[in-house]
Amino acid sequence: MSTRGQPRVLLMHPILDPGPAILAEAAEVIAYPPDRPLDEAGIRQAADGCVGIVSQLMDPIRETVLSTPGLKVVSNVAVGYDNIDVPAATAHKVMVTNTPGVLDDSTADFAFALLMATARRIVEGDNFTRQGRFRGWAIDMMLGTDVFGATLGIVGIGRIGRGVAHRAKGFNMRVLYYDPNPLTPEAEQQVGATRADLNRLLSESDFVSVHTPLTKETQHLISTPQFELMKRSAILINTSRGPVIDEAALVEALNAKKIAGAGLDVYEREPAVHPGLVPMPNVVLAPHIASATVRTRSEMSAMAARNMATAVRGGRPPNLLNPEVKR
Ligand code: DGY
Repeated sequence: MSTRGQPRVLLMHPILDPGPAILAEAAEVIAYPPDRPLDEAGIRQAADGCVGIVSQLMDPIRETVLSTPGLKVVSNVAVGYDNIDVPAATAHKVMVTNTPGVLDDSTADFAFALLMATARRIVEGDNFTRQGRFRGWAIDMMLGTDVFGATLGIVGIGRIGRGVAHRAKGFNMRVLYYDPNPLTPEAEQQVGATRADLNRLLSESDFVSVHTPLTKETQHLISTPQFELMKRSAILINTSRGPVIDEAALVEALNAKKIAGAGLDVYEREPAVHPGLVPMPNVVLAPHIASATVRTRSEMSAMAARNMATAVRGGRPPNLLNPEVKR
């Protein structure tokens, strides 16, 4: 509690309006010291005396942090929450919340943008033109891959995967999906996707787009054996979490021309990017910005702030990931 009798909340990083005002109505907000490393020891120290932490995906929130005395809630400003040890939070009776739903369309748009950019060599063409190397039309210049009518394989058919399938309809694509939890036949028809096992999806798809959360089961889901199955002309898109793809195996597959290209928004050791990817013209690299639109990031901020405000007032936050902590 602060001297004003308000609960104290640690804000790990600035958030967008209207998040700060929502938080300030409910709590005394303490900013994480900007010069302190983002490690568990630093977060634990900063969280001392706080009932809540507003975290982001680069903040490791595990046993050391979750055992802070008096900590009641961690509100993650992201839909993904692999940075938080939820079972440990539950064991310490700490509520964990995330921001589902509001970023689905922005992220699906971006996955499609990466797909288009990689297939049609847009970044490479932009660099070429800016460098003054465009000296006239040529019939064989920067030949790419057709998207219209191609086969798209979606790995993980949650809200974002379904959003990508929806966009693919406009490109007359044949859509396969792999997910351990199948859609109902009605949903499959509505989404316009056919279920396939991962091997079939990889071997038949021209584009593979990954939309699965990072879990023990999905870590390195796409590695050397999976690249062996893919078409040599295939393009891999990842807007989920970096470690779902074995980055070293991806570099090896690209170098060996086992696949044709990749569009990546996320990396295995973010913010580090595998040095082998950097010089590759057939790879489009983005800095984890799939949800980065003004509307979406503002809604994520507001949602996370509302989750926190509800929890510190003693309520049950709307996006509670471990409901067993607060019945
Ligand atoms: C998330 O929310 O998990 C994204 O990766 C960042 O918006």
